[in-house]
Amino acid sequence: MTNTFSGLTNFSKGGDSKLTLKAGYDANYLYILAEWYDSTVNLSQHSWIYNGYNVPLKPSDPNNGWTSQRNSDKFAMAFEIASAIGTKGNFATVGCEASCHGSGNTATMTPNSGSVDIWNWSLATSAPLGYAHDMTASSAGLVYDAGDKLATRNSNGSTDRSGPAYEWDGTSQSVTLPNGSTALLDPSYYLLNKTTMKGNVSNGLTIYESRCETCHGPNGSGAEAGAINAIGQNKKARKAYFDAMDNVADMSDYWGALSSEEKDDIVAYLRGLSGSPGHYLTVPTAGSSSADIVAISNVTPTQISNSLFTSTNHHQKYQVLIKRKLKTTNPDDVQFDLNANKNYVFGVALMDNDGKNHIGSVKETLTFK
Ligand code: HEC
Repeated sequence: MTNTFSGLTNFSKGGDSKLTLKAGYDANYLYILAEWYDSTVNLSQHSWIYNGYNVPLKPSDPNNGWTSQRNSDKFAMAFEIASAIGTKGNFATVGCEASCHGSGNTATMTPNSGSVDIWNWSLATSAPLGYAHDMTASSAGLVYDAGDKLATRNSNGSTDRSGPAYEWDGTSQSVTLPNGSTALLDPSYYLLNKTTMKGNVSNGLTIYESRCETCHGPNGSGAEAGAINAIGQNKKARKAYFDAMDNVADMSDYWGALSSEEKDDIVAYLRGLSGSPGHYLTVPTAGSSSADIVAISNVTPTQISNSLFTSTNHHQKYQVLIKRKLKTTNPDDVQFDLNANKNYVFGVALMDNDGKNHIGSVKETLTFK
């Protein structure tokens, strides 16, 4: 496939993913267990970072102002819904290449005709709610299935420079997963309960440079006082953030002297240093087509701690179990009608801190024995 942003050998820092797929079924459901190695864990998706890092592969994309950075680990499958054909051939012959690539269109995931079901498990945007995204690729491009979207861009506008619209409101982000268990979503990464992001970020930067940088260093990277740009800073809702800064005696001349408006500006800038979540999540209405694909994994939102999720995957491997009805009543889904057909061609893709680029296999066959 298209490898990773930094080349094929960059997947899991050069380790073999050793992807294995196992499947089972009963009268109503198909179950697929995917296991693969990925030593790093990436669970952000287009975090908003103010004056973000330079990306050497994107020299035309300057890093000033709001930028969208970071990405997520993902696992995706593609099944044919209705005879999909691209320039490379039809789905039965070339698998998901009929939809994803070589279609002759510049747009990816766009077959010339027909449609393809895309199941997309993302650690940033679907896994925390216990689902995989259910999507359809057709000549209209890649679109979400009907019903509530699990994740929506947390944006003030329509571009990757628009900046965040929302921040965490400080209330417990407890969700009931489809299997009935409860998860507490870490606000450093996940935005579920939200309120409008306050403050003027460029004012915040100006104030930071004149009042804070001497002690906390450029971009909050730390100097005589500690670094304040870690992603974990988002664990503090605005009030708690204010309180924490009120409590530092050394800072009373600098922080304490600001107006509440200026304090809001500063916090907007601090959010831009640690990176505000790029999406907010919505628990889908049970029974809607967007909620068809239930997923559980060995990485649950309750296990998240900073050290675990910004560096290594202590499990070393991902284990993701997907469950879907053999037959849904939705026109935007593949139907596994075992009386009509026992063999289903599919494609499978893995993404490591990436979205566009992936490794995997364009054509495999699922056989119901
Ligand atoms: C005179 C030095 C100094 C200046 C100036 C200063 N700070 Fe601090 N700040 C500290 C010290 C000391 C701490 C305590 C922890 C540490 O050593 O990092 C701290 C802690 C913090 C924390 C962490 C609070 C927590 O408990 O999570 C934040 C956030 C912070 N400062 C923001 C600011 C901002 C914003 C400004 C500018 C308005 C500022 N600081 C100016 C010295 C300073």
